[in-house]
Amino acid sequence: MNVCLWLIKVELHFYPLASSGILCVLIGLLVSEASTRPGKNLEEEVSYLKLRLSSLKNRYKFLCDQYTSLAKNYSAPAFICTQCPDGWFQVDDQCFLLTADKMDWLNSKKNCTKMDGHLAILTTKEEHDAIEKESIRFGGFYTSYWIGLTDSENEGDWKWVDKSTLTTPFWNKVKSEPDNSPMAGSEGEDCAVVESRSQTWYDVPCSFTYPRICQKDAIPLE
Ligand SMILES: *[C@@H]1O[C@H](CO)[C@@H](O)[C@H](O)[C@H]1NC(C)=O
Ligand SMILES: *[C@@H]1O[C@H](CO)[C@@H](O)[C@H](O)[C@H]1NC(C)=O
Repeated sequence: MNVCLWLIKVELHFYPLASSGILCVLIGLLVSEASTRPGKNLEEEVSYLKLRLSSLKNRYKFLCDQYTSLAKNYSAPAFICTQCPDGWFQVDDQCFLLTADKMDWLNSKKNCTKMDGHLAILTTKEEHDAIEKESIRFGGFYTSYWIGLTDSENEGDWKWVDKSTLTTPFWNKVKSEPDNSPMAGSEGEDCAVVESRSQTWYDVPCSFTYPRICQKDAIPLE
C-alpha cells in the first residue's frame, strides 16, 4: 500500500499518468485489505474498512489538489479527480461496466441507456487492455461483448451509437473482419462485438445475444 501511494506521488510529480495511479489505489486496496487484518468479527472489520476507505479517499483528494496546484505553476496537463460507480471500472475519465447476462444488440443498447450510459465506444488500446483484464477478473474467462458500433443504416458505413463515424478501428484483420458473412443470411452482420482475448472486433448479426459493455463519464470527486 505504501509503495502504491509512493508510486502515485512519483507519478503525479513527474509523470501524470492518472489512470494507472487510480488503478494502483484500487489494486492496493484489494490486495492489502484481502490479505491483512482478519479482524475479530465482521462488524469490526467492516467499520475498519470503512475508515480505511474514507482515509484513502481523503488522501486521493489531497494528492489531486496538490497535483492541480503544482500543474498550474508548470503548465502541466490538468487532472480532474474522478470516480466510477460501484462495479464499474475506470479508464482515464470514462467508466465501463461488463455484464454477464446476454441480450441482442438493440436491447443491450437500451439497457446501457437506462443506466445513464451508452454501449461502449472504444477508441484506445488502453481501453482494450483494461477490458481484457476486467473480462478475466470479473468473468473468469475471455468472451465477446457488444460494443456501440453498427452499420445497420448503411452497409459498410460503421457508426458509433453517438452517431460519430468510426475513425480508429480495431477489427480482427486475421479473420478479415468486418466481413458481413454471407452465412448470416439476409440479416447480414450489422453489429459489432469486441473479443476480449484478442482485443479485436467482429461484425455479427444484431439479433445474436452477447453480454455487453456499457460506458459513461466518470463523476468528479466531491
Ligand atoms: C506556485 O506559484 C505561486 C506564485 O507564483 C507560488 O506562491 C507557489 O508557492 C507555487 N507553488 C508551488 C507548489 O510551487
Ligand atoms: C439491465 O440489465 C440488468 C441485467 O444485467 C438488469 O438487472 C437491469 O434491470 C436492466 N436495466 C434496465 C433498466 O433494463
